[in-house]
Amino acid sequence: MIRVLISGANGQLGQELTSASPNGYEVISLSRADLDITNAESVSNALSKFSPHVVINAAAYTKVDLAETERESCHAANADAPGYLAEACHKTDAALIHVSTDFVFDGCSSRPYTVDSKTSPQSEYGRSKLLGENRIISSGLENYAIIRTSWVYSSYGSNFVKTMLRLMASRDRLAVVGDQVGTPTSASRLASIIWQLVDKFKTGEAVRLNMEDRIFHWSDAGVASWYDFAVAVQREALDRGLLSRQIEVDCIPSEAYPTPAHRPHYSVMDTSKLRSLLAIGASHWSCELSKVLDVIKEDKTRREVGLDV
Ligand SMILES: NC(=O)c1ccc[n+]([C@@H]2O[C@H](COP(=O)([O-])OP(=O)(O)OC[C@H]3O[C@@H](n4cnc5c(N)ncnc54)[C@H](OP(=O)(O)O)[C@@H]3O)[C@@H](O)[C@H]2O)c1
Repeated sequence: MIRVLISGANGQLGQELTSASPNGYEVISLSRADLDITNAESVSNALSKFSPHVVINAAAYTKVDLAETERESCHAANADAPGYLAEACHKTDAALIHVSTDFVFDGCSSRPYTVDSKTSPQSEYGRSKLLGENRIISSGLENYAIIRTSWVYSSYGSNFVKTMLRLMASRDRLAVVGDQVGTPTSASRLASIIWQLVDKFKTGEAVRLNMEDRIFHWSDAGVASWYDFAVAVQREALDRGLLSRQIEVDCIPSEAYPTPAHRPHYSVMDTSKLRSLLAIGASHWSCELSKVLDVIKEDKTRREVGLDV
C-alpha cells in the first residue's frame, strides 16, 4: 500500500486531491491546523510519524495582492517551507510533488512558456514561488517533481469562477480585464494529473527521470483572457440555471483595474512534456469549465433539497 501525505488539504487543490484519491493508496490529508508547513520541526515530525512514500504539497500562500505587503508570511510558506518538506523527504526517503505557478515568468512572451523558458517573476508571490522551487532543487532530494500551473479554479474554495457567479447574481454590469491572457485550469483535472504522476513514482518511472527533467507545466488546453473566461462562466451558468438573468460584461484594459501585484499579460504554458510523460491528450478549458459548473449546480441542488448537512 502506497502512503501519500497531502499538505494544504483544505485548499481547492488539496480538497480535489483528497476526493479524487484512487483505490490502492493510503491517503493522509493534513490541513494547516494539522500541519503548518512553515514549522520545520512539525514537518519533520509529521514525516517521521506517517512515513509517507509520497508527499504532495498543495499548501501555499496564495493571496497574490496581499503578498506585496505580507512578504514575510508569503516567503515563509512559499519559499522556506518547500525546503523543509524537501529536506524531510530526503531524510525519510519519500518523494515530493510540489505545485508552483506561471507567475515565475515575466508575462512578456508571445508564445507558450516551456519548462526551459527563462524565469523572471514580477511579483512578491512569483518570487516566493520561484525561491521555493529552488529550495527543493538544491535540497539534495532526488525524487521530486515540480508542477507549475495557472488560473486554478474548483467547486471548492474561492476562485475566479465562484467570484464571477456571485457578482453576476448581484450586479447589473461587470467590467473584466481583457488584455491578460492565460489558460484556466480545473483543480479537479490537475488533481487527477497529479495522481497519475504519483503512479509514475510508484512504478519507479519518475525515479529514472533526469534531474533537469523534474519541472513540468500543467494547465487545461487553449487560451483565454479573463474577459473570455467571465463570458464563458456567464453563458454556461445561464444554461444550467445557476444565474437567472444575463448582465452586461465589459472588456477593460489592465490599466482600468490596477492591483497591488503586477499581473502577467501572457501566462500560457506549454504542457506537452507532462502530457507526453503521462501519455494523455489535452482537454480544452471550456470543457473542463462545463464539468466544474455541473458540480457547482449539483452542490446547489443538493443544498436546496436539503441533502447536504
Ligand atoms: N489558485 C491559483 O490560481 C493558482 C495558480 C497557479 C498556481 N497555484 C498553486 O497551486 C497550489 C494550490 O493552490 P490552491 O488554488 O489550491 O490554493 P488555496 O485554495 O489558497 O489553498 C492553499 C491552502 O494552503 C494552506 N496553507 C497556507 N499556508 C499554510 C501553511 N503554512 N501550512 C499549511 N497549509 C497552509 C491554506 O490554508 P488556509 O485555508 O488555512 O489558509 C489553504 O488551505 C499552490 O501551490 C498555488 O501556489 C494556484
